[in-house]
Formats: sequence, structure tokens, C-alpha cells
Amino acid sequence: MRVGVLTGGGDCPGLNAAIRAVVRRAIHYNYRVAGIHNGWAGLLGEGSLEPMGLRSVSGILHLGGTILGTSRTNPLKKEEHLQQVITNIKRHAMDAVVAIGGDDTLSVASRLFDLGIAAVGVPKTMDNDVSGTDYTIGFNSAVSIVADALDKLHTTASAHHRVLVVEVMGRDAGWVAVVGGLAGGADFILVPEVPTDIGAVCRHLERRRQLGKDFSIIVIAEGAVLPGIEVISELGERDAFGHIRLDKRNIGEIVAREIERRTGFETRVTVLGHLQRGGSPSVFDRVLATRLGVAAVDLIKDGKFGCMPGLAGNRIVPVKLADALAKPKTVDLELYELAQLFY
Ligand code: F6P
Repeated sequence: MRVGVLTGGGDCPGLNAAIRAVVRRAIHYNYRVAGIHNGWAGLLGEGSLEPMGLRSVSGILHLGGTILGTSRTNPLKKEEHLQQVITNIKRHAMDAVVAIGGDDTLSVASRLFDLGIAAVGVPKTMDNDVSGTDYTIGFNSAVSIVADALDKLHTTASAHHRVLVVEVMGRDAGWVAVVGGLAGGADFILVPEVPTDIGAVCRHLERRRQLGKDFSIIVIAEGAVLPGIEVISELGERDAFGHIRLDKRNIGEIVAREIERRTGFETRVTVLGHLQRGGSPSVFDRVLATRLGVAAVDLIKDGKFGCMPGLAGNRIVPVKLADALAKPKTVDLELYELAQLFY
């Protein structure tokens, strides 16, 4: 048996831990492993691959990024590319492929499975918006970074009696904003799932001042929706999966300016950006990535293709990719409401 492994989409901490787990479990079963470079791009053209063994994954458990490289290449865009991917999987004698990625990467694996390729997935994304798993690889590390940033921003906001608007990632789901904000004591959280009136935000800030709280931290997801607030809607080219660059939406800056205009409170903005995807994985992500990577190879061994392992409570369970991809996992509104208790 020869297993191909790739990482696709945006990187996040924990990818190397997952690669290591896949390789180690495959070696345990006497499978050979091919590392595919740069996501699905590594299966276009002639293909770009490397044989992987124990030494390739030694000393990488704690490293951020991905030793295989990644890309947002989408071979589903052109039939010719999809065929190249299939041809390369066969030409490089891969009996099965493990795709470590978010919904975009997993959607390619799912399509390949429909076309007869023995593909399995491993759910990763700092956004935590893949269904079928309680948590995805990268999310815990990202929210730890957000919480740490909020701790630091509290001291400067307090010293200057300012409002600090902290923009975090989160295209369609507010997981990072809600969990990071809850952990870091945010005074207001804005997410894509719940359109929020800017007037309500300002009234809340004014109420806080009346109560003697002379600084506030607002966490806003890059995809947050505020009716009546104009954001740039034409944001240039879309990526291969049709996504616009939400960082260019500038929502943090726009909201900060509006708060200042309406309340007169001095307001500053911090955009955490790619810091949320950098550095070493948290303990939780190392363990999750290890469990999911091992389980993905077990799915191959058991012939459960077209599936990914997911975390359900504290158990790892097989989930059909088609089910995981049927709809994104939006933020838990109970958590969102819980955070409001502390505003
Ligand atoms: O896919 C996860 C994500 O981190 C989103 O939250 C964010 O909008 C996007 O990636 C940023 O992508 P890039 O690194 O390609 O700019």
C-alpha cells in the first residue's frame, strides 16, 4: 500500500503534527508514504512529491506551518486539472490519499472519492467551521493567540481609557471571535452569523462608561455583518475556491471610526491577521492532530474511503465527507450568548 498525504488551504499550527501522525501510523502498517507538495498543486503537471519515512517527520511535532507546503489550488475548477490529479495519483502508484484541510480541500477529496479514488480527509482550519467534528486542527492554537492578545490589549486600553477594536479571522463563522473573546474577556463580540446594529454597540459602550468602566475591548470577526455600515464590496480577485480577501474589507477600522464618530471615545484598532495562524501548536492541537492523523490511516486500513475522522466529545469517529461538507458549522449561539453575560 502506498499512501499520499497533502496539506491544503490556509496553514495553521498542528499540520506538522498531523503529517507526522499519518506517516508514523502508515509505517506501523508497513505502508509507504508519498508527501505531496503544496496541496492539490502537487498533483498537477508532472506532480511534485517526495518519499517520506521516519526521518522526514522527526522533530516536527511542535512546529507551525507545514513541511509539505500548502496552496489554495482548486483542481475542481477545470476538468483538465481534475483529470491530471487522478492521472498523477495513479502514475505515482498511490493507493490512497490523505487530504489534510478545511472545507475547500476536503471538497476536492470528496469529489475524488466519487470518481473512484481512495481518498480520506483530516479536518483542519483555524476557523473551526467544518461540520462533523467538535474541533478542527488549528482552532485551539488560534484562540489561544487571540486570548493572549486580548490580555495584552487590556492593559494598554485601560491605561489610555480607550476603546480597542480587535479584528480576528473568521470568514463565515464566528468561532474564533466568540471563543477567543470569551477567553480574553471581550466587552462586545461581533460575528458573521448575527447581524449587529452599530447603535447597540455604541449604547453599550456608553453604558459601560456610566458604570465607571472607562475602557472597552471589542472583538470583531473579519466577516461580521453590521446593517447600515458600508464596507467595500468589490474586493478584487477571488481565490480558486471563490473567496474574497476579507482582510481587505477593513471592517475593524470602519467600525472603530464609526464608534469614535458616534460616542467621541478615543478608539484604536488591532488586526491580528496571520499571527493567529503562526507559531507552535497548542497542546490540544498537537494531541488532536495526532489522533486525527492516526485515525485517517486507520480509515484507509479499514477501507472507509470518502470519510474523515472527527472529534465527538472525547471520541474519534468516522464521518462521511459528504455529510461534513453538507453545511458549514456555524458558531454555537449558546456560547455567543454566554459571552454576553460578561459584557
Ligand atoms: O481559511 C482560513 C482563513 O484563515 C480565514 O479565516 C481567512 O479569511 C483566510 O484564511 C485568509 O486567507 P489567506 O491566508 O489566503 O489570506
